[in-house]
Amino acid sequence: ERSDEQVPATSNEFLAQFEVDDSKGFLTSDVGGPIEDQDSLKAGIRGSTLLEDFIFRQKIQHFDHERVPERAVHARGAGAHGTFTSYGDFSNLTAASFLSTPGKETPVFVRFSTVAGSRGSADTVRDVHGFATRFYTDEGNFDIVGNNIPVFFIQDAIRFPDLIHAVKPSPDSEIPQAATAHDSAWDFFSSQPSTLHTLFWAMAGFGIPRSYRHMDGFGVHTFRAVTDDGSSKLIKWHWKTKQGKASLVWEEAQALAGKNADFHRQDLFDAIESGNGPSWELNVQVVDEDKALAFGFDLLDPTKFIPEELAPLQPLGIMTLDANPTNYFSETEQIMFQPGHIVRGIDFTEDPLLQGRIFSYLDTQLNRHGGPNFEQLPINRPRTPIHNNNRDGAGQNLIHRNLYPYSPNTLNNGYPAQANQTAGRGFFTAPGRTASGNLVRELSSTFDDHWSQPRLFYNSLTKIEQQFVINAIRFETSQLKSKTVKQNVLTQLNRVSNDIAKRVAAVLGLAAPAPDSRYYNNNVTAGISIFNKTLPSI
Ligand code: HEM
Repeated sequence: ERSDEQVPATSNEFLAQFEVDDSKGFLTSDVGGPIEDQDSLKAGIRGSTLLEDFIFRQKIQHFDHERVPERAVHARGAGAHGTFTSYGDFSNLTAASFLSTPGKETPVFVRFSTVAGSRGSADTVRDVHGFATRFYTDEGNFDIVGNNIPVFFIQDAIRFPDLIHAVKPSPDSEIPQAATAHDSAWDFFSSQPSTLHTLFWAMAGFGIPRSYRHMDGFGVHTFRAVTDDGSSKLIKWHWKTKQGKASLVWEEAQALAGKNADFHRQDLFDAIESGNGPSWELNVQVVDEDKALAFGFDLLDPTKFIPEELAPLQPLGIMTLDANPTNYFSETEQIMFQPGHIVRGIDFTEDPLLQGRIFSYLDTQLNRHGGPNFEQLPINRPRTPIHNNNRDGAGQNLIHRNLYPYSPNTLNNGYPAQANQTAGRGFFTAPGRTASGNLVRELSSTFDDHWSQPRLFYNSLTKIEQQFVINAIRFETSQLKSKTVKQNVLTQLNRVSNDIAKRVAAVLGLAAPAPDSRYYNNNVTAGISIFNKTLPSI
C-alpha cells in the first residue's frame, strides 16, 4: 500500500520541506564553513587576486552557471499553485483517482506562457498562449499541457521545427518584428494551410488576452478516458475561466508591451496576493470510440474543434489558484510539463502531433536540466512514493538503498514489485487500442479539409469580432514584402471566405478575388456555431 509512506499535501506544505531561509545566520561556503565574501584574497593590498581563493571562485563560479537554457518554445511564462476539487465520482468515465470522489482535492501547479518570445519578451504580444496544468494526484503526476486556443497549427509533429523556425525572430537580427520575420511566418501559414484555423483564433482576441485569468484552456488533442473495467471513450479537455473571457484591443496590447512588459505576470501575481485567486472549471467533451469520424472530420486531427452543440461540455471539477511561487526559478522555471505525464485512467490517441510531443518534451528537458533526474526537483516530485530501478546520472539527489536494483530478482523477494501484482492497480492502456497497417509517410485524407473550420470560426463571431479579425490580418499582412507570399495569403483567405479575401486584398495591393467555390461545399458544419451560444463570447 502506498498510503503508509507519504500522503499528498498541499503544494506549499510539500515544497516547504525544501525551503532554505537565508534571511538569518552568517554566511557559509557551499560546503558549510563560515566565510566573509566581500573582498577577494590578494597578494599585497594592491596585488593580484590569488587562484587559491576558493571563496571567490565558488561565488563567481556559481553565478556564472546561474542560467539554464530557456524553454525552446513557451520560454516566457508565469505560474502559480492551487487546488483542484472534483465535483463527483466519475469512475464511470475514467479510473483517474483525482476524479474518483466528490470533493476530493488535488494540489496543482499551472504555468501560463506565450510561445514564440524569449524569456524576457513582453507579455502582451500577439501569440498563442500556453495553459499547462500539473495535477499532483495520489497516483502520480498528471499534466494537461494545453493552450488557450483549442486547435493547433500543424497535424504532424515532424513539422514543428518548421513552424517554430518560421515564427521565431529573424535569424540575422533576432528582431521578431523584422520584415523577414513577418514574411517567413506568413509564408509558412499560406504554404501550410493546416495553420489557418489556429491562425484565425490568434488573429481574434484569443491572441491578445486581457490577462491569463481571462483565458480558457484546452488540451487540444483528443485523449482517451479509460475505466477500471476497461471501457474507453474519446475525450477533449476544456478549462472554462470563471473570470469571464476578455481580450485586449491591439492598441492597448501594443502600448502595454512598452509600458509594462510584465502586465500578465503582474496581474496573476497581484490577484493571488490580494486573495482573489482565479478559478477554472474542468470540462470534457465525451465521444464514443466508434465516432472518431462522425463529425465530418477526424478526431485525431488537432486542427479541428468539436462544436459544443455536437458534443456538450460535461463539468468535472473546479481549480483555484491561491499561492504564488516562493522562488520563480525553482518552481515556474524548473517545472517540466510533459504530455506524456498521464495517470491510470487516461490514455493517448494516435494523433500524430500528440505522438511526437510525447517524445519532444522529455528530450528537451534532458537538455534543459542537463541530466535525467529532473523529476527529483521539488516542483516535479510526485506526492507519491517512488520505487524503481532507475539509477545514478547528473543531479542524482537520492540515496538508493536497494542492493538489487533489477527486475526480476529473487534476492530482494522480487521488490520493487510490478504494480499489478501487488495492489492490482497497475497503469494500463485502453484495452481496445490496436495498431497495424502498412508503413506510410503521409497523413490520412481525413485530415485534408483546412478551410471549413476557420470559416465556421469566423462565421461564429459577431460583426465587431469579425472586424477585429480583419483588422489584425490587415495589420500583420501590411508588413509583408514578398509578392508571392501576399498572393498565397490571399489565395488561402479566399478558400476560407470570399468576404475576408475581399476585405484584405487592398492592403496586400492585390485585386479582390472571385469566390473560390470549390472550397465552400462542406455542409457538415452548416447551421451550427463553434461556440455554445449560452456562453459569453470574447
Ligand atoms: C512547451 C503546448 C505542440 C514542443 C510547451 C508548453 C505548452 C505547450 C503549454 C509550455 C509548458 C510549460 O509551461 O513549461 C503545446 C500544445 C501543442 C504543442 C498545446 C499542440 C497541441 C508541440 C509540438 C512540439 C512541442 C508538436 C514538438 C514536436 C514543445 C517544447 C516545449 C514546449 C520542446 C518546451 C518544453 C520544456 O522546455 O519544458 N508546449 N505544444 N510542442 N512544447 Fe509544446
